[in-house]
Amino acid sequence: MNRVYNFSAGPSMLPLEALEKAKEEMINYRDSGMSVMEMSHRSKVFGEIISETESLLREQMNIPDNYKVLFLQGGASTQFAMIPLNLMKKYKKAAYVDSGNWAKNAILEASRYGEVIIAASSKDNNYSFYPDDIKIDNDVDYLHITSNNTIFGTKITKLPETGDIPIIADMSSNILSEKVDVSKYGMIYAGAQKNLGPAGVTIVIIREDLIGYHMDFTPTMLMYETHSKASSMYNTPPCYSIYMVKLVLEWIRSKGGIEAIEKMNKEKAKILYDFLDNSKMFKGTARIIDRSLMNIPFVLPNDELNAKFIKEAEAIGLTTLKGHRIVGGMRASIYNAMPIEGVKKLVGFMKEFEENNA
Ligand SMILES: Cc1ncc(COP(=O)(O)O)c(C=O)c1O
Repeated sequence: MNRVYNFSAGPSMLPLEALEKAKEEMINYRDSGMSVMEMSHRSKVFGEIISETESLLREQMNIPDNYKVLFLQGGASTQFAMIPLNLMKKYKKAAYVDSGNWAKNAILEASRYGEVIIAASSKDNNYSFYPDDIKIDNDVDYLHITSNNTIFGTKITKLPETGDIPIIADMSSNILSEKVDVSKYGMIYAGAQKNLGPAGVTIVIIREDLIGYHMDFTPTMLMYETHSKASSMYNTPPCYSIYMVKLVLEWIRSKGGIEAIEKMNKEKAKILYDFLDNSKMFKGTARIIDRSLMNIPFVLPNDELNAKFIKEAEAIGLTTLKGHRIVGGMRASIYNAMPIEGVKKLVGFMKEFEENNA
């Protein structure tokens, strides 16, 4: 079996152990006589799957009891609308950190429902750093941040002090990659397809007191209250994706939990960053102090070399390294499931490429 090292920004690599477990349980899940894909979401056996998934997530992220965990659909992009529709409750005004393209999409969507104040921005520098001068007024309903910028390879390193104003974080590309104090946030959300499982389920972790203030015209399916009251079973949830999240969380636990995962992620990122910092040919594109542990964009001196590198890497099983068109060059997404061997193989090839093309 030739599995490649897949550096895709998402959907991306899943732990092999989780895939193998899914294969083993595919046709007859734990003697139920059916696949998880075939069972009623109201069945006892699926009820156990979703509650185990929630408990594992609570355990791994140390989620306090006054937070609800919701399993939704529509991707992180649907949250861009749900957040203003539900959380612009008093001032109809929210502060957003403009730290990248996904942040920009969140801002555009929120502006359809209320006033958006840009609390800080790195747009003028093509989002090459995480804005560190975040300022907000008291008359906003929340502050929205993107904790990791998937395209630009930057992350927030210090949460601003906001007092009673809740911080809402898009953690799509770095959830479960390192320890976070959930109690510092009003809400955390993430599309699953990077660190949690396959596409199809979106995780929302929301403080209970923020639920129930949606705008009058909010569609039922877009109210947090709907899903919270129905324990994510108002309608058919993405059952199989939820099951896969469970397997990924079991894998995280088997590796020693989030602390161990964080240690591995730091080790993996260091290997690549150390090489980039010492290379004469490859250059990282993000400001050093806010570089991401998950997404590492880098460039060669010209497009011809970039294309050559991507092609030759692909040929030896290092795939999906092409950078996002806005940054160009390459991007190595090294989420939780990317083994350290994958990063070492990539850096080995980069060294070789540099020698051969000097
Ligand atoms: C930080 C971030 N936010 C939002 C999204 C959009 O997620 P979805 O495709 O689940 O809507 C992405 C996708 O890559 C992302 O990286």
